[in-house]
Amino acid sequence: MKRGEERLAALRDGARLVLDENWLGSSTLPSRTLYPHQWSWDSAFIAIGRSWYDQAKAQRELESLFKAQWANGKVPHIVFNPKVPDDAYFPGPTFWQTSTRSKDAPRDVETSGITQPPIHAQAALEMHRHARDQASSVAFLKWLYPRLVAEHDYLARHRDPTGIGLASVVHPWESGLDNSPVWGRDLSELAIPAGAIPPYQRHDLAHANAADRPTNEAYDRFVYLVLRYRDSGYDDSVLLDAVPFTMASPQFNAIYLWSTHALVELADVVGADPTPHREAAERIHSALLSHLWDPDARCFAAMDVRTKERGVEDTIVAFAPLLDPEHPADHRTSIVDTLKSNCFHPDRPGDFVVPSYDLLGEDFDRRRYWRGPIWINTN
Ligand code: SER
Repeated sequence: MKRGEERLAALRDGARLVLDENWLGSSTLPSRTLYPHQWSWDSAFIAIGRSWYDQAKAQRELESLFKAQWANGKVPHIVFNPKVPDDAYFPGPTFWQTSTRSKDAPRDVETSGITQPPIHAQAALEMHRHARDQASSVAFLKWLYPRLVAEHDYLARHRDPTGIGLASVVHPWESGLDNSPVWGRDLSELAIPAGAIPPYQRHDLAHANAADRPTNEAYDRFVYLVLRYRDSGYDDSVLLDAVPFTMASPQFNAIYLWSTHALVELADVVGADPTPHREAAERIHSALLSHLWDPDARCFAAMDVRTKERGVEDTIVAFAPLLDPEHPADHRTSIVDTLKSNCFHPDRPGDFVVPSYDLLGEDFDRRRYWRGPIWINTN
């Protein structure tokens, strides 16, 4: 084998070893220490990876996640493993209290109360494309498809409080890009009343370098937002009153659109009507352009759905609408120009990976997640 091929083979074997060592029997841990439960979008990425060599485990991964889906269609961002002690991760089930606070939360398994980017339909389609056992894949998709439709319906019905055609996130953790500067202004303007946050202990710092992790100040804001949503009983009908953070993100919505296109293809596989998904794709595509495209800055930006103000930070979220197959060509050119600029190009020819945040941005930090470091999945 040539050296390049050897390196690739070693990388592939190493990646498989990580997944196999973290396999728990029905899902995969993102990390034995820092993330000791099942995470929603991590599971989708993991299932895509596994589908190249282990169809059965890829299917079980998504099955485990969707067995914890809420009655209203919400796919929770964490499914808690009951065997893991509560103090292994914060916030754990005793903090979220979903099964006692919401009539929609499952009773037989504990979950978080928020969601994550809806990448699952796209993952399911990828898995089907790689499936060696097509009959098993079709049977699995027949089970999963209505659940994916419910996930998308939840976003359309419950996460669009101002009727703009896009889904809002109610917590930075829902974006998967926790302390990205994309949320900076909205989080810094958050007024937290004295005494609103009970004492809590972070467990992440026991497993990771504090320089890599969000600051305590950011954590207070994360905890406060959970409390606000939790205290409403996770009731999306009162979102605008209950939760002081409702953001439409280009990344979350581009993934939502990408998965909506996947639903069109999956409908065909399971013999369902693709028309509603075509209509939804048209709605999300138009809303992305009319609400999140900034014609002056010529880039996509996250928008506060209450104030309709768009952010100004250059972060990785701005590139995700390239996933839209109907993206206008002149927009694409502007986005690619930004990608190639000194703000995002690390200037290593042949090794082009995109950092999570503008290399020249004021808040750039080469260690802290989402303020600089690359997460390859977002690439
Ligand atoms: N991303 C958050 C954490 O780091 C919650 O999912 O714990």
